[in-house]
Amino acid sequence: MTASESAARRLVVLVSGSGSNLQALLDAGADPAFGARVVAVGADRPGITGLDRAAAVGVPTFVEEVKAYPSRSDWDRALTAQVAAHQPDLVISAGFLKLVGPDFLAEFAGRYLNTHNTLLPAFPGIHGPRDALAYGVKITGATLFFVDAGVDTGPIVAQVAVPVLDDDDEETLTERIKEAERRQLVEQVGRLVRDGWTITGRKVHIP
Ligand code: GRF
Repeated sequence: MTASESAARRLVVLVSGSGSNLQALLDAGADPAFGARVVAVGADRPGITGLDRAAAVGVPTFVEEVKAYPSRSDWDRALTAQVAAHQPDLVISAGFLKLVGPDFLAEFAGRYLNTHNTLLPAFPGIHGPRDALAYGVKITGATLFFVDAGVDTGPIVAQVAVPVLDDDDEETLTERIKEAERRQLVEQVGRLVRDGWTITGRKVHIP
């Protein structure tokens, strides 16, 4: 390991799908000036592209499926232990489709980020762009926030606006949001790891 690699902050990224946000972080971390690198990628299911992206660049992966455990809290404890074993400075949910439980939050609250594909608090949940389209909003976007015990309710780090076009369908809107979302994720994770942060109530401050 080089000196700059050992100085870099440690990111563990959780995925459930295609992992394009993960890929953006993997790419960014290849530059030592970014200040962080992905040290492990976890998933709640096997056989997804996100895991392949990590394996392709030699980043360790793990899978914790809820159905492998007798209860949700057993799964939560196992996931917590897996993530903790990689000693992350930040944990990032990048399209991870599971809500973590109290054990995970006890360990990682205040350093567990999620990126959501609407401008929260509008349209939380897994069908954000579809719900935004159905509502008829003209602007939506992406929100990066620290996860708390609610569904997409935690303190907001950053938001980026994305226009809704007249001829958008769910797919075109989702893709346009994802481009802005990836840029925001890389930019803000870089700021967080290089400059640090404080959370006071609902306010996130990066000095
Ligand atoms: C992101 O748009 C995220 O907001 C949503 O799922 C998408 C994940 O995409 N929850 P990817 O797996 O990073 O490509």
